[in-house]
Amino acid sequence: MSDKVFIFDTTLRDGEQVPGCQLNTVEKIQVAKALESLGVDVIEAGFPVSSPGDFNSVVEISKAVTWPTICALTRSVEKDIDVAAEALKYAKRKRIHTGIGTSDYHIKYKFNSNRDEILQRAIACVKYAKKYVEDVEFYAEDAGRTDNEYLARVVEAVIKAGATVVNIPDTTGYCLPDVYGAKIRYLMENVPNIHKAVISTHCHNDLGMATANTMSGILNGARQVEVAVNGVGERAGNTSLEEIAMILRCHKNLGVHTDINTQHIMHSSRLVSSLMNMPVQPNKAVVGRNAFAHSSGIHQDGVLKNRENYEIMDPKDVGIDENSIVLTARSGRAALKHRLQLLGVEIGDERLQEVYQEFLKLADRKKVINDEDILLLTGEERSEKKRIKLDHLQVVSGKGVRAVASITLDIAGEKFEATASGNGPVDAGIKALKRIINREMTLQEFLIQAIAKGSDDTGKVHMQVEHQGSVYYGFSGNTDIITASIEAYIDAINKFVD
Ligand code: KIV
Ligand code: ZN
Repeated sequence: MSDKVFIFDTTLRDGEQVPGCQLNTVEKIQVAKALESLGVDVIEAGFPVSSPGDFNSVVEISKAVTWPTICALTRSVEKDIDVAAEALKYAKRKRIHTGIGTSDYHIKYKFNSNRDEILQRAIACVKYAKKYVEDVEFYAEDAGRTDNEYLARVVEAVIKAGATVVNIPDTTGYCLPDVYGAKIRYLMENVPNIHKAVISTHCHNDLGMATANTMSGILNGARQVEVAVNGVGERAGNTSLEEIAMILRCHKNLGVHTDINTQHIMHSSRLVSSLMNMPVQPNKAVVGRNAFAHSSGIHQDGVLKNRENYEIMDPKDVGIDENSIVLTARSGRAALKHRLQLLGVEIGDERLQEVYQEFLKLADRKKVINDEDILLLTGEERSEKKRIKLDHLQVVSGKGVRAVASITLDIAGEKFEATASGNGPVDAGIKALKRIINREMTLQEFLIQAIAKGSDDTGKVHMQVEHQGSVYYGFSGNTDIITASIEAYIDAINKFVD
């Protein structure tokens, strides 16, 4: 059996079915190109018969993408298959993904039919799709709750009809990992022509078991996995692409691998999250903001001594530059010293001891200590050292008016003024700023942290600004979040201006 696990990405089909997360064709092409760089084998680009928009996206993705196979979903309906074949016209490699529900629930309550009739429909849809393309994948919807003996009959019949891949979806996310694995094993051992097709997993995460079930499928013989970036998808979503890719990378002893270029994971995750307006939970495995952030003193000290003490993955392998250590009341002296070094502050052991005591007192009051706090504790006032400072900012914004910002910057003691409009107060402020500082720079990340209590509390802004291929981090806190945003941008700029 092959040692390669094929990655079938369904971010743009099953993933995109989430209400409120729909993408337009241009955005889908952006995601498809990112998936191509990531190294996925198959991109499920849509369900063409479902809408003209979906049809058009499959057409345009087929034109835009070179290496991965482009796949289009259909029901076991001839019209669906005709439309899918038409949408795939420009694809260099194409696949039709057709199928029908095989569980007794679906047979009885969805189709008002019986097992024999469904078996015949399964065979017919594969044969019909075969008229158009060589590569036909069959899905047995709700296979997770389908009787294994009947499922084996269906799988044997569709392979005989020409299916190259057979998908065994746990549509409802109900299966336990050992049960799902046993189902795949049963098929491997009881379907006589199984070696003529690739068996695929397609696991939903309703009970939080999608990744475990997918792994169990692989361990029992599946060689394609259907996944989505960030695990997006209806309800609790699909199996996360990044989790499977990193599990197989970390556990090389399993003897199977994917062709995923893992250093592109973080970029793809952020792209999908921002285009779909779907934040990634901070503690999400592999791609969450905290996935590599150690906050306990023992862990921080251990990581600083040797990363492998507490990290099983190198953050660089998923495309993260630096291990971000969060400083809290549980942080030790070593972590504080390390952060001070990163900030360019060198202090002796005696002074470190004093600053550490002050740090602990502050950490008791504040959940997370930021760089500005640390510099204040050491007596280093970062803003004093800044070449560029915000001198004055006035913004007019509101509903029904275009935002306008007037800004005055103090650059090494000299004052510069500019005004600009934008599609919001922060956009207007940044545009005015760029009229004064004429450098190529792009805002990459913009996070306004939740205010702890009360509308008069300080808002904290974290930003990442890209300049000539490097990313610079900026921070500011202010009771006025527009001011904090512009100051954070300036904070980042100060790191690369001379
Ligand atoms: O979850 C499922 O069963 C599906 C099929 C249409 C493949 O998404
Ligand atoms: Zn699904």
